[in-house]
Amino acid sequence: MAGNKGGVTMLTQAPRGTKDVLPTDSYRWQHVEALMRKTAAEAGFREVRTPVFEHTELFLRGVGDTTDIVQKEMYTFKDKGDRSITLKPEGTAGAVRAFLESSLYADALPCKMYYLNAPIFRYEAPQNGRLREHHQFGMECFGGKEPTVEAELICALFELLGGLGLKNLSVHINSIGCPECRPKYHQKLKEYLGERLSDMCPTCQERFAKNPLRILDCKEEKCKQELKDAPVMLDNLCDECREHFEKLKEYLTEAGIKFVVDPRIVRGLDYYTKTVFEIIMQSGREGLALCGGGRYDRLVEELGGPATPAAGFGIGIERILIELTTQGLLPEAPGITDVYVANLGADMAVPAFTFTQALRKAGVKADCDVCGRSLKAQFKFADKVNAKYVAIMGGDEYARGTVKIRNMQTREEVEFSLDTAAEETANLLK
Ligand code: HAM
Repeated sequence: MAGNKGGVTMLTQAPRGTKDVLPTDSYRWQHVEALMRKTAAEAGFREVRTPVFEHTELFLRGVGDTTDIVQKEMYTFKDKGDRSITLKPEGTAGAVRAFLESSLYADALPCKMYYLNAPIFRYEAPQNGRLREHHQFGMECFGGKEPTVEAELICALFELLGGLGLKNLSVHINSIGCPECRPKYHQKLKEYLGERLSDMCPTCQERFAKNPLRILDCKEEKCKQELKDAPVMLDNLCDECREHFEKLKEYLTEAGIKFVVDPRIVRGLDYYTKTVFEIIMQSGREGLALCGGGRYDRLVEELGGPATPAAGFGIGIERILIELTTQGLLPEAPGITDVYVANLGADMAVPAFTFTQALRKAGVKADCDVCGRSLKAQFKFADKVNAKYVAIMGGDEYARGTVKIRNMQTREEVEFSLDTAAEETANLLK
């Protein structure tokens, strides 16, 4: 019995941590997506589409094999050719791989690309705002070493989020240095942590050896206490990194962007150098970011390409939708049908269908009966889908070569000649 029940559940329930976007909800996504495309295009970014899966090696090398994503969260499997394949756990590595594979570095730089609705897979504990499959909009810029790039990315984000109506946003920025200054800082941090480490959580202890900077990201209260007076990367930047960070702040200030310098932003992926940034969710879910990004000047080279500075961000579309819902900023659902073409009987089904096609050609959202319903049931359906007009096909009007169009709100009726009815109905809707 239980097995049977389980079998049914497997068939009708999506895997944990995934979500359908139903026809009733997809307009919300489209609303957000339209603004994303517009923002990206205005900033000179063109769309890139990369595969949902890549060779596992790309993420081991790209994202970093000490990160939580690689160690715990990847969906990795062997394909039938015995290759290790991984479903994209983030968007940047795939974009870099595409940039390299097609030698885009040989074209005029910077090369600016964006991805939209890219499905991202992470085996995380699902909760509100944290899914096992989520979707990202990301912008990546290759070939620009100046902080203008990060400033441009952050401005685009504000343009996007502001355009959606989200208010009170501030971006948290930090610099995590470069291979020149970071190792020295790691040393200092390790010295500070020294005896404190035994009082800290197992994750921090693990990170101590492999990636001490990530200890700063620990959410455990006792660890936070121990880290209170820890040295911060910002005080230990080399001249080049410091200057880069100062210039970025100047750009953002001039652009009127509210930002917070937050030395605790260290990011969960290994490829970052210099600038890192996050926008934290307003709906107050501890630790959940709306968006994350930064500079990754070494990644292209580490993956086998020529040294190419780069920076980008990724923003979770589901999290944007949570924010929009919480702040009551979602637009109203658009109507499904503007004109419903009812037939007065089965013998009028063909003319009704033909008129529906003519309306659609005239640019009208039109529909007709496909269920063999009675006239009464057709009107009921037209009401249910909020049709603005019902065209009634049949009777004396049809015999005269006309069709009656009823305004469903005012109940007023007009009669149009069938020859011109599609265009005239389209005009009614203008
Ligand atoms: P990330 O911070 O790991 O960065 O993810 C970017 C955004 O994706 C997050 O801020 C969040 O909105 C969303 N997100 C992440 N995990 C989940 C999840 N489990 N459920 C729902 N939404 C989630 C990256 O992925 C980098 N590739 C960003 C980047 C691009 N850096 C440079 N270029």
